[in-house]
Amino acid sequence: MAGTADYGLGPFTYPRGWFMVAEADEVTSVPSAVRYFGQDLVLYRGASGRAYMVDAYCPHMGAHLARNTTSYVIHDKIQVEGESIRCPYHAWRFGADGKCNQIPYSPAPIPAAARLRTWTLQERYGCIFAWHDSEGGAPDFDLPAIPEWDDPAYVHWKIDQLGMLPCHPQEIVDNLADVSHLGPTHGGPPEYFSNIIDGIEARQYQGAYHRALAPGFMLETDTFYTGPGILLSYFNGGGAVMYIAHTPVDDGSLKAWHGLLVNSGKPAAGDDDIPMARAQQAGSLAALAQDFEVWANKRACIQPLAVPGDGAFSRVRLWYRQFYNPRAEAAKIQALANGTYGVRGMPATRQIAS
Ligand code: FES
Ligand SMILES: [Fe+2]
Repeated sequence: MAGTADYGLGPFTYPRGWFMVAEADEVTSVPSAVRYFGQDLVLYRGASGRAYMVDAYCPHMGAHLARNTTSYVIHDKIQVEGESIRCPYHAWRFGADGKCNQIPYSPAPIPAAARLRTWTLQERYGCIFAWHDSEGGAPDFDLPAIPEWDDPAYVHWKIDQLGMLPCHPQEIVDNLADVSHLGPTHGGPPEYFSNIIDGIEARQYQGAYHRALAPGFMLETDTFYTGPGILLSYFNGGGAVMYIAHTPVDDGSLKAWHGLLVNSGKPAAGDDDIPMARAQQAGSLAALAQDFEVWANKRACIQPLAVPGDGAFSRVRLWYRQFYNPRAEAAKIQALANGTYGVRGMPATRQIAS
């Protein structure tokens, strides 16, 4: 399994940015165990409804906060109190800021080291996102805005959990530049294609007549990463919005999710539009499954054997490096990566017939 160092991405094993860590529905007052960024973590929801992610292991003696079903702390349903979470072993309680705020049996002052690391979370689009930063800094960019989420014309996605992939996220990110797989893998050789890199965003424009779609119907997509782990793709100017999120689990493995927001074509979508939206999402998932099968079985591609006609992999990889390097280096890397990149022998934009 190739890791970040093999790809030469930078000094940090895991990238800086926003990452999906759960569907919103999965986070409840019963703490759950997750693993991301090489760490065991726990998600729970406080009485206010706010979601929290904390270290899994208690600083007292190392008990796992969520992997317990038999302690009386669990039995008596006192594990989550207000916004605090209690350890099942000796019942130390930790507040929303991660600091221990009660040791039930000890009269002594609570030691400063009695604290859990807490993560910055946002709950949006039916998902929970965590900010990861090896330098411990606050977010320096936001989640992508999806105005369609609040537009009643759209049917919300029902997230597909794609599970674990035993490959480095670099292999997924490469797909943004991968013009030459679109025909062979997906049956949609593009008529035009370009990548545009700008700061924390990396974009792909393309349009293709697909084998499986109606004759003469060109599927045009505007697909972009906002940071390293969240991809949106607008189909034909907003007919649907595809969402793919991927989050490192360990160095060289990841978890992924997919969804599709679908425009009903009406001012307000109703329940009767849901089957159509689910069918479209299933079609989108089937296309993603064509990539997934490759990713699940390929060896690592440390250095593509590039030929003319391949996309701008080196530029997209350069863009991706900014997230594995100190924040102070990001502007320098962006300046090198920014630009518009076409493909030899192919128009960069749609050619309008005269
Ligand atoms: S190990 Fe958590 S309270 Fe003792
Ligand atoms: Fe693909």
